[in-house]
Amino acid sequence: MPSLMKAIVCLDCGAEMPTEALPEKCTGCGSEWLEVRYDLEQTGRIWKTDLAGRTTSMWRYQELLPVTGDDVDATSMGEGWTPLVRAIGLGRELEHDHIYIKDERQSPTGSFKDRQGALTISYLNSQGVRECVMASTGNKAAAYAAFCARAGIRLWIFLTSTVPSEKLRELALYGAEVVKITGTYDQAKKVAQDFAARRRLFYDAGARSIPGREAFKTIAFEIAEQLARLEPAGEGKWRAPDWYIQAVSGGIGPLGVWKGFQELKAMGLIDKLPRLAIVQAEGCSPMATAWRFKLETADAVVPHTRIAVLATGDPGRTYTMLRNACLQTNGTMLAVSDGDAFRSMRRMARVEGYSMEPAAAVAFGGLERLIADGVIGKDETVVVNCSGHTFPAEKHILEEQYVLDLQFGEGDVSSAGHKQLEEGLGAALERLDEQVTTVVVIDDNPQDSRLIRRLLQAHKNYRVFEVNNPLDGLDLVRQRKPDLVVMDLTMPDLDGFTMLEAFKTDAEVAHIPVVVVSAKTLTASDRARLEGRAESLWQKGNFNTRELVEHVVSTLGGDLTDSPEELTEATEGQVVAASKQTITTATPKPSEPTHNIIVIDDDRRDARLIRRLLEATGRYHVHEAYTAESGWQQVQENKPDLLVLDLMLPDVSGETLLERLKNDDTTRDIPVVVLTAKDIRASEREQLLGKIISLFEKANLDRQALIDYVNETLSDA
Ligand SMILES: Cc1ncc(COP(=O)(O)O)c(C=O)c1O
Ligand SMILES: [Zn+2]
Repeated sequence: MPSLMKAIVCLDCGAEMPTEALPEKCTGCGSEWLEVRYDLEQTGRIWKTDLAGRTTSMWRYQELLPVTGDDVDATSMGEGWTPLVRAIGLGRELEHDHIYIKDERQSPTGSFKDRQGALTISYLNSQGVRECVMASTGNKAAAYAAFCARAGIRLWIFLTSTVPSEKLRELALYGAEVVKITGTYDQAKKVAQDFAARRRLFYDAGARSIPGREAFKTIAFEIAEQLARLEPAGEGKWRAPDWYIQAVSGGIGPLGVWKGFQELKAMGLIDKLPRLAIVQAEGCSPMATAWRFKLETADAVVPHTRIAVLATGDPGRTYTMLRNACLQTNGTMLAVSDGDAFRSMRRMARVEGYSMEPAAAVAFGGLERLIADGVIGKDETVVVNCSGHTFPAEKHILEEQYVLDLQFGEGDVSSAGHKQLEEGLGAALERLDEQVTTVVVIDDNPQDSRLIRRLLQAHKNYRVFEVNNPLDGLDLVRQRKPDLVVMDLTMPDLDGFTMLEAFKTDAEVAHIPVVVVSAKTLTASDRARLEGRAESLWQKGNFNTRELVEHVVSTLGGDLTDSPEELTEATEGQVVAASKQTITTATPKPSEPTHNIIVIDDDRRDARLIRRLLEATGRYHVHEAYTAESGWQQVQENKPDLLVLDLMLPDVSGETLLERLKNDDTTRDIPVVVLTAKDIRASEREQLLGKIISLFEKANLDRQALIDYVNETLSDA
């Protein structure tokens, strides 16, 4: 059964949008708060009779999910349909017979965030997104990292330094890029968003994202379907509990759950909506505080809790939406101290055999309080979301430096603080660009790899991974996709030549420049094998360390402004050892490419990537230009056989440059491939396709397809 989506509706202006793609903003007013509407009547008929034999995962409810079918099959790990279990031991201690635990620990990565991860990543995968950015307090990150690993999507995660290292290690294990922000979660979100904007990558919009909220509805569906089996509700009926209790950080979970119960009620499957109990950690409880003072909006706070997973200081509009839900059914918001949460955690392990993470225990702390205060009655049915469990990723399983550390000021949520944050942000992002520049050094001799790492790090804040086993090196390069590889040639298990061949025939990593540093005396045939593949060749025991560093830095698009003395100082004894080996550069032998290509793109990183991809074929001389004007000059000078053109250029648009090329007899026939991040409307596309030979979009670029296309075009030329 496919999704029965009917429309996407703006929560601010009521505009309706089609459901083909899930828009990020309202096409009418620009609001980011959109909601999906479904054919509930038809769904209700189907669900009353037809669910029994379905898959026992969250995908059994596919009529009311925005993504289904093949898009899901590729990424799903069978998430959802977690057990609903009666709390007998706790019930005895609290003298309450109707407490149920929704055991979300039994999810692929151990938390209820897997629902969101599964739906969001399935959606991104179906849209061809290959790289994305998110901020998280921990568990959403694990979920996204796991599903991104399955989908082959590169993921950047921004977290705060308070997130426990067990969680960080788990993320790195899934291959995600982990950036640790010494600052608040709200700052981490801001940095992540700006980082994504700079690189034109998809940014996960948290509670505003449609797949996120839609995913959490399935918790409501499951609770009502499962509860009707435990406490029968009558023919054709499901049962909503009297209370749904959840520990809350940003609040996306209960927002989704609430929508789920509303849809069930609209379908006639349940008769009433549950009361929500929103429980926060006292040290970060903007919602509970605003609720206590009966405020319509919540003031942001700087979190001071040891439960980092719940440290969203600024809930924004989510508070107002949850407040309305609570007001509607007489629900509540409250806070419990870290100490109370830890006590509940111990009690649940002792009396129920449930070991959970502190964030989940916050919900049980809230339950105890609400029963003690008589807010929850003895006959009321309560479902508590046991939202997560920490995955034990031990220290020794990962290489060092799997986390990038970005230092940031103390959290200050005043407007002056915001201004300061804005100002600091630019500088922080600049620093981050250097810090995320990754070099992998592969050398079976640990002394040599360490020397190279220290040489580079004496100058730049690069992240340098050392690997002393070539097979691990191959793995690491494929997983991390570094910006540059430095490698030895003679190594046990796998020789450098074979490794280089493996890199250069893999479209995902072929563009990465490889610098060879080797003690091997090369024969003519050795050199031939390296030609066109290695960026440069350095003879161990015979090169000048500064030249090597300069070469690496300039290959990475930077420059070395500091003095040579500093190098000696910063690397202490190491350079002495290096200069003892006295070393000179061997210039790489140029290969013999047959065609000229010019890449015109103001984003230097993109221009470089395309140049390297094309150069890696060994067939092309590639030049880069960053403005339309300099692109035009280069076309005049170099008479290229093909142009790769971005449309958004700083001086004049790519379209204007295209006009100029087509109006000039000498340039009219040069084939142009457009590669752009711009959203192209159908009419624009038509117009463009008259003047260019092909159009590739940056957001979902299939690198191999681009190379194949260029090869094919120029093989006939
Ligand atoms: C285990 C656990 N419980 C509760 C929460 C809070 O959920 P929400 O994002 O819905 O506020 C989180 C959020 O990260 C979590 O990981
Ligand atoms: Zn609108």
